[in-house]
Amino acid sequence: MASLTIRKLDEHVKTYLRLRSAKNRRSVEEEVRVILRELIEGREEPLTPFAAPPAPSSAPTLQRTGAAPEASVTLIIGGGIAAYKSLDLIRRLKERRVEVRCVLTKAAQQFVTPLAVSALSHERVYTDLFDPQSEFDAGHIRLARDCDLIVVAPATADLMAKIANGHADDLASAILLATNRKVLLAPAMNPLMWNNAATRRNVTQLQRDGLVLIGPNSGEMAEAGEAGVGRMSEAIEIANAAERLLRPPVPKPLAGKRVLITAGPTHEPIDPVRYIANRSSGKQGFAIAAAAQAAGAEVILVSGPVDLDDPQGVTVKHVESARQMLEQVQAALPADIAIFAAAVADWRVANEGEQKLKKTSAGMPPLQLVENPDILATISKLTDKRPPLVIGFAAETEHLIDNAKSKLARKGCDWIVANDVSPATGVMGGDRNTVHLISRKNGEIAVDSWPVMTKEQVAIELVAHIAKSATDKSREPAS
Ligand SMILES: Cc1cc2nc3c(=O)[nH]c(=O)nc-3n(C[C@H](O)[C@H](O)[C@H](O)COP(=O)(O)O)c2cc1C
Repeated sequence: MASLTIRKLDEHVKTYLRLRSAKNRRSVEEEVRVILRELIEGREEPLTPFAAPPAPSSAPTLQRTGAAPEASVTLIIGGGIAAYKSLDLIRRLKERRVEVRCVLTKAAQQFVTPLAVSALSHERVYTDLFDPQSEFDAGHIRLARDCDLIVVAPATADLMAKIANGHADDLASAILLATNRKVLLAPAMNPLMWNNAATRRNVTQLQRDGLVLIGPNSGEMAEAGEAGVGRMSEAIEIANAAERLLRPPVPKPLAGKRVLITAGPTHEPIDPVRYIANRSSGKQGFAIAAAAQAAGAEVILVSGPVDLDDPQGVTVKHVESARQMLEQVQAALPADIAIFAAAVADWRVANEGEQKLKKTSAGMPPLQLVENPDILATISKLTDKRPPLVIGFAAETEHLIDNAKSKLARKGCDWIVANDVSPATGVMGGDRNTVHLISRKNGEIAVDSWPVMTKEQVAIELVAHIAKSATDKSREPAS
């Protein structure tokens, strides 16, 4: 059975659902169920509960940024003085593109009103375990599971005692007992309550059970003249802790590595206005630079003339000709890994005109070509500053694998990424690539053929192979 994620619906559909559910005092999910049931039973309400569905531009957006939420949190607000801070917490979470559905305990409603919470969260607020409107299909189970994280703020001494002991006699405790999501607690209480032996036992038990605590901080209490540990963490601290749980940091397998990459074509001048070039777009090299940077590497990208934005967090050196590219590559050494993805012109014009060449009756001026420096071979054959892993690219239009194998031997690099660039493949300038990774394995040449992928996916795959080989301390790619 397919499942429907409401936050992925079109913005105007979400707006419509939100308005209709608010009007009917139902949650958005309940409203969708009601609409579906009515459709099936042939009792469809008119699809315009208001005069007209609001235009997307004028619609109240879930985020101040207008961006779609990326995660959802069930926020349980307990009955403590610090409950007022949970109003700010709702705002802070929404700023981080988190959808927030709130549950208020009976005691919490003495400190903040459901109306204020619902106005800030733009969602219906839940207060009652035995609410027929949300419990006709076990709404507390949905609140427990249709979210990515549960945050309890303030987590009162009473709520923590209930969770530690598995109570479920109100909506908040029933959700916390029924959830299979991570739970973040932000305790807030008087220092004597916090230090009480019962609370200490409960905190130990909750941590053993895998719940995560943020705070409490120390400072002045609401009670006049009292201070100590027990103040709830600030909303921003709780939002940051929630974000860390929602979006755990991605692994950085190339942290501490310096990666040098070349990309794009080179332009070899004929005269001040004309040049010889090729069709390389630089997309593959740029994608590798971005993937290596995302994997934690320090990346230096030496790029020929391309029509691409510099990847974020990457040092980019822009060059025109093969000789300039070699100069920048040499200046960027030492490096742990060098990836030569640029389509460097093999030849340049020996007799480059100092002035624009003119048409004359003598006919076309003869262009003498001389060989450009071979950047891949030059770096592969260095004795002192040779990077431990040197990877070349072979763009071929025929005999792809054979040519790539002989290039590997000729150039002295460790791996070759071979790709077929004949016009029919659309690789040159296109967004997809079919590559073969050629390497040496136990004295033999190994060929690992990858399926057709986007250039970003090829980059991620290549970086994963590099990371694996770096961990293995071997120059051979993983198969
Ligand atoms: C003015 C006032 C402030 C309170 N502040 C707190 C507090 O900060 N932390 C706490 O654990 N309990 C506090 N309590 C006690 C709780 O409100 C009480 O234990 C209640 O049963 C908690 O219910 P709940 O855990 O279901 O929200 C306070 C009570 C009052 C009257």
